[in-house]
Amino acid sequence: MKTRITEMCGIRHPIIQGGMHFVGFAELAAAVSNAGGLGIITGLTQRTPADLANEIARCRDMTDKPFGVNLTFLPIVNAPDYPGYVQAIIDGGVKVVETAGNNPAKWLPLLKEHDIKVIHKCTTVRHALKAQSIGCDAVSVDGFECGGHPGEDDIPNMILLPRAAEELEIPFVASGGMADARSLVASLAMGAEGMNMGTRFIATQEAPVHENVKQAILAATELDTRLVMRPLRNTERVLTNAAVERLLAKERELGSEISFDDIKDEVAGVYPKVMLDGDMDAGAWSCGMVAGLIHDIPTVQELVDRIMRDAETLIRQRLTGLLDS
Ligand SMILES: Cc1cc2nc3c(=O)[nH]c(=O)nc-3n(C[C@H](O)[C@H](O)[C@H](O)COP(=O)(O)O)c2cc1C
Repeated sequence: MKTRITEMCGIRHPIIQGGMHFVGFAELAAAVSNAGGLGIITGLTQRTPADLANEIARCRDMTDKPFGVNLTFLPIVNAPDYPGYVQAIIDGGVKVVETAGNNPAKWLPLLKEHDIKVIHKCTTVRHALKAQSIGCDAVSVDGFECGGHPGEDDIPNMILLPRAAEELEIPFVASGGMADARSLVASLAMGAEGMNMGTRFIATQEAPVHENVKQAILAATELDTRLVMRPLRNTERVLTNAAVERLLAKERELGSEISFDDIKDEVAGVYPKVMLDGDMDAGAWSCGMVAGLIHDIPTVQELVDRIMRDAETLIRQRLTGLLDS
């Protein structure tokens, strides 16, 4: 399947693996790229730019296909060494960067100078248009269903994607709630040039996370995510657990008086405990509503092959068949 995204990224299938904290290591990124999609290493999971350089080199050892790096711009005062991370990306010969969290304008000239494509992930048409106007090559449009940070506008993909298609000239991929061939075909129908998956890729053999995480996603239904940190305007969709329910109780109790300090026990330093140690109640960790559609733990290759095979059947048989009958 050829789309503006497969052409832009030099990949076989229009499937991208979104950056995921403490999930997007070289093992997963390489597996996705080897399967014909675009794997993405999560930049900030690497403690230093030197660690990121090493992770990029490890990924290069595992695949000769293109892969990308996610750069998340965090809303914090003590910013990570972004210039160092960008340099590691350039020196590592990475050709696609997924930016998220904030406007990447500051970094675009340098990335463009090195022929690096920038896919900015955003949750509103307004932000997508901004990304287009500053020169991003594509956007990843993340609907309200998504695991992670859905923003504050709460527009689900059934509306957000066609709205993006109405307004944008640059290509976009659908993100949030994507799990299978139905997601891909529906996204294409709504004007997207491919799809970005987060949660679905965690429940794969190659995802280098604790087995407990994969089993938690398998056990979860579409009813089991919660929105936390809404009062701080830093909303995150997470899988519910004891810590999340405690956090939500604090939010109800403290109302608009709440500050980050009040909830830091439930949100700070959680990812390594969950993803590496399998301590599922350690705190709040991102997970999409799409967990309700995840029923197995295939290899990445099996997952991607199944999506592309079923998409072909959906298009050639079900959709064309509706017209022919
Ligand atoms: C565990 C987890 C960690 C994530 N970490 C990041 C991150 O560090 N940076 C980022 O831009 N997006 C992050 N995301 C969001 C994903 O890249 C992607 O946009 C989202 O998962 C799409 O929604 P889905 O889970 O319904 O597929 C994370 C998502 C999950 C599930």
